[in-house]
Amino acid sequence: MTRTQPPFAPGASTSAAPGGTAAESQTARSIVLVADSHVVLEGAGVPVRRILPSREARYDLVDPFLLLDEFRIESSGDGASFPPHPHRGFEIVTYFIAGSGKHVDSEGNAGVVYAGGLQRITAGRGMWHGEGSGDGPSGPVHGLQLWINLARAEKGIAPSYQAVTAEQIPERKVGDATVRVLVGEGSPTQLRTPSLYYDVQLPSGGQTALDVPDGYQGFAYVIDGEGAFGAGGRTVRAGQVAVLGPTGSLPVVAGNGGVRFVLCAGVPHREPVRWNGPYVD
Ligand code: FE2
Repeated sequence: MTRTQPPFAPGASTSAAPGGTAAESQTARSIVLVADSHVVLEGAGVPVRRILPSREARYDLVDPFLLLDEFRIESSGDGASFPPHPHRGFEIVTYFIAGSGKHVDSEGNAGVVYAGGLQRITAGRGMWHGEGSGDGPSGPVHGLQLWINLARAEKGIAPSYQAVTAEQIPERKVGDATVRVLVGEGSPTQLRTPSLYYDVQLPSGGQTALDVPDGYQGFAYVIDGEGAFGAGGRTVRAGQVAVLGPTGSLPVVAGNGGVRFVLCAGVPHREPVRWNGPYVD
């Protein structure tokens, strides 16, 4: 949705499972830093909470993830929140936690994504899309938009689009956590960069340890509540992002009231980023 930023091609997705084996879980990931998010105006003047890019959670620490925005908007049903705009050079996953969103693009795709579902766009060599609240009952639309960089060798691939419904997204129990596998083992969502993307809910005082393959890097972003994350039990609150250390699984203990967060991790490209508004070359 965001106009300042980046999509997918079938095939290269990931195989990470949310729960580690006993051996893998013996090493707990550290948290290298915790940073705040901030509110920016996007599209037709819509306020969104921007988690990435971040001055503190620098790209080299979260590569391949370019951008994460959390949006909470009042549905107008007109689909006009984010008028048509171009993207190039990356992939976009837009996940709807509540409400629904309309989509139309230059490749002839159009439709509505409903709560619990997502859409994946691979901008590749370039495309445009328009985004806005869907045609459901009025009320809040809440979700996340994630941009994943493409390897330089894949920046010129053909654009593509995929819609994934809530029913198609696997849900697993890992310890006390309920994990929705947005990207990863069992999910139909296909990204060019091997990666995982989980929506994790943990009840008050609950504990979990989420496996993250060695060689993946990324972050956890807390949507609601708070918890103790990583080997040192760093406190991370709603609106904050925790950058993962290099190896091991991610232990989390929920605070009072529980915690809901997303975990994003993938193989870094380690290539220079040339960012120009909605293009990342
Ligand atoms: Fe967009």
